Amino acid sequence: MVGTAQDSNESRRLPSASGSSVYDVPYAIFFERHYTGWVRNFSPDLERYLSRCHGGPGSLLDLCCGSGETLDVFLRAGWTLVGVDLSAAMLARARAKLAPALRSGRLRLVQSDAVQLALGDPVDAVVSLDGALNHLLTMEQLLIAFERVGAALRPGGRFVFDLFEAPHFRHWNRVSVADEDDMIMVKRGAWDETTGAGTRRISGAFRDGAGWRRVAQDLTARHFDVHQVEAQLRRAGLRRVAPGVTMPPCPCGSSESGECRTLFEAVRDPTLD
Ligand SMILES: C[S@@+](CC[C@H](N)C(=O)[O-])C[C@H]1O[C@@H](n2cnc3c(N)ncnc32)[C@H](O)[C@@H]1O
Repeated sequence: MVGTAQDSNESRRLPSASGSSVYDVPYAIFFERHYTGWVRNFSPDLERYLSRCHGGPGSLLDLCCGSGETLDVFLRAGWTLVGVDLSAAMLARARAKLAPALRSGRLRLVQSDAVQLALGDPVDAVVSLDGALNHLLTMEQLLIAFERVGAALRPGGRFVFDLFEAPHFRHWNRVSVADEDDMIMVKRGAWDETTGAGTRRISGAFRDGAGWRRVAQDLTARHFDVHQVEAQLRRAGLRRVAPGVTMPPCPCGSSESGECRTLFEAVRDPTLD
């Protein structure tokens, strides 16, 4: 059972650790259509890797699961899943796509803030993909989220996640415009190198069936230094190891030099219990 988390079909909005980054309905539809390519590329390799580690399909928590692309891949491979996300709109996309698995009981979708996550039975593995944890705005929130992950993982279980690096965020300071037959979208933001935090507005419209939908989504994010991430993992009882899987290149279009994201893998310390 889930403690403070709410069932996904409940529309009440929970207090958020992530400021204004609650993905709303039009943005959730747009995100699912246009921004899920990277995770759809990566998830099959990740599934095969975690299956090898576990000796076959087990149980998996997808933290910040969004519209359920990764859940879909793991479901097809035979895993039992819990998907957690703060956004009711993103969970609605996942629910629509994965209805049979919800009915069969192999999938549970839970609306919860990552820093409030409380699951009953420990899972074999946890993933959190596409820079989702960059939406947490302080190191303390990241530590709490890691502690929640540690509590949700069985001893020896693996946690795989990626975080965006500074080169990814620097291009938030540029305005980008997509002007296509089925969408006009403007991205503009402000990224502060000294605080390592920023906001971005994605606004415009996209074709949806016979009509057009307006998007006006504000996102907030921050950069976490790799060494600090490793230290917070350790504090949460999660030992960083070299990733056993390779992620595809980031499609964000940043022309900055340097890596756009880092893939992390950590193992829940078995000596803690
Ligand atoms: C970039 S999307 C990635 C979604 C999914 N992991 C994927 O790869 O398609 C980030 C997701 O994190 C969720 N999110 C943001 N802040 C959150 C928080 N504090 N707790 C739980 N989910 C959060 C958003 O609602 C969104 O679905």
